Amino acid sequence: MKYEKEINRRRTFAIISHPDAGKTTLTEKLLLFGGAIQTAGAVKSNKIKKHATSDFMEIERQRGISVATSVMTFEYKNYLINLLDTPGHKDFAEDTYRTLTAVDSVILVIDSVNGVEDQTRRLVEVCRMRDTPIIVFVNKMDRDGKNRFDLLEEVENELKIALHPMTWPINSGKDFKGVYNLHNKSLCLFTASTKADGEDTIAIDDLSNTILDNKIGERDAAHLREDVELLDGVYGQLNVADYLAGKISPVFFGSAVNNFGVQEMLDTFVQVAPKPLSRLTSERIVTPEEDKFSGFIFKIHANLDPKHRDRIAFMRVCSGKFERNKYYHHVRINKDVRFSNPYSFLARSKDVIEDAFPGDVIGLFDTGNFKIGDTLTEGEDFFYTGIPTFSPEIFKELVNKDPMKTKQLEKGVQQLTDEGVAQLFTQFGGNRKIIGCVGELQFEVIQYRLLHEYSAACEFRSLPYYKACWLTSKDNKKLEEFLRFKQQNSGEDKDGNPVYLAQSEWFLNTEINNNPDIQFHFSNEVNK
Ligand code: G4P
Repeated sequence: MKYEKEINRRRTFAIISHPDAGKTTLTEKLLLFGGAIQTAGAVKSNKIKKHATSDFMEIERQRGISVATSVMTFEYKNYLINLLDTPGHKDFAEDTYRTLTAVDSVILVIDSVNGVEDQTRRLVEVCRMRDTPIIVFVNKMDRDGKNRFDLLEEVENELKIALHPMTWPINSGKDFKGVYNLHNKSLCLFTASTKADGEDTIAIDDLSNTILDNKIGERDAAHLREDVELLDGVYGQLNVADYLAGKISPVFFGSAVNNFGVQEMLDTFVQVAPKPLSRLTSERIVTPEEDKFSGFIFKIHANLDPKHRDRIAFMRVCSGKFERNKYYHHVRINKDVRFSNPYSFLARSKDVIEDAFPGDVIGLFDTGNFKIGDTLTEGEDFFYTGIPTFSPEIFKELVNKDPMKTKQLEKGVQQLTDEGVAQLFTQFGGNRKIIGCVGELQFEVIQYRLLHEYSAACEFRSLPYYKACWLTSKDNKKLEEFLRFKQQNSGEDKDGNPVYLAQSEWFLNTEINNNPDIQFHFSNEVNK
């Protein structure tokens, strides 16, 4: 176990939230604590503005900027923290889901006023697929939010996660006085601060102590005593093993913009959050402590600027030590490749790196050799598994506008779908090529890129599909029969897996009920 020290000090995670809950603000505060940025406001400019524009070039431009903040690395109390950014824009949700396969844990931000929102549900579902440990940060306590008990209940019921409060708020909005830390029994009084200068905490082991009344007033002190008695009875001590197994989520209350409650959460995070974990591959479980290097590509970022045609493939190191200029085995294409300029995303110095350890994410310049899920090793043949693909939400037929450029179009579509920009299905009846995306924006991106990068002109024709389901069955004959019978509504994905293209929920449910021998899956896995 040569690299144990390096592995043990690494924490690789992502912050997830519904847009506007405070992810960017919290990210910024964490970076301030880590000394990675010096001033508030530094992260803001990298965010895709939600209302600003629907112009995809502008969004891509902003995404281009955000490559630099895709991975933010900072040190805190001797821990090396890799914070992976996830795009806030709904149309890039697939990017976020894939990024979640490269982290060991997540922090979920919930807006205390809005509670559980759409995107929160979907993101947590993805975390649950891998039992990813989740810490919850209830943000915006300085605003009049929902009743805290109701909010916890809503989160537990809607997200189907069991919660464990670590701090407990004293009021909210104008009356917000701070939080009581149930874990280390201290009172933290609310003060608005934008710097990373720590918080004002007072140890109060015994809540009957009158210091409490002096600090927050008799009425609030009485309420807090009642609440804490109730909470102690229900929750007791945090069971870290349950958290690590993804069964229980510690909850913190605070206000990111006021830098309140953030450090308490960060301190707990570094202590309890998992170090780089073992991962499943097509052949066996690979542990980070293994001497030999291995890693996988979870995201590919292409540059839309024709002057810079490079792509950056993001690789998570899973075992051993990655070294610059060393040959590694690219399992899918069965070739040895080496990288002379692997890129590190250290927030302070974006630079070429010499080596990287499990938990680290590095950027590899790519000229089209990589696709999502590709695995690099020191010779062994295996693929990292568990990278999910979900059904697109919009389906359109790809129409070639220039038959002389058919080859270019095919190559372009192959490469763009390898990057994960969209999914490609080929319909059985008629061989139509169908592109599936999460948002309208991607169709514009695809059309633009096919024209500018591959000189292939295309247009899209809307199709009335609502969902794609991957099909499996123990009875091959039944499956073949179904596909033949439903030609107009079936096809295969890029890897040749059969899919059913449902026109509506009603059709889908009818087919599910009528075909008990066929399994309809709402997600698929790369490298399964
Ligand atoms: P996101 O990345 O999850 O989309 O959210 P972001 O951090 O951008 O926060 C969304 C808005 O919520 C921002 O306001 C931000 O200032 C505000 N916010 C974040 N944390 C808190 C908090 O603890 N309390 C309160 N009251 N507000 C908070 P904005 O007006 O959209 O942007 P800005 O003009 O402040 O930059």
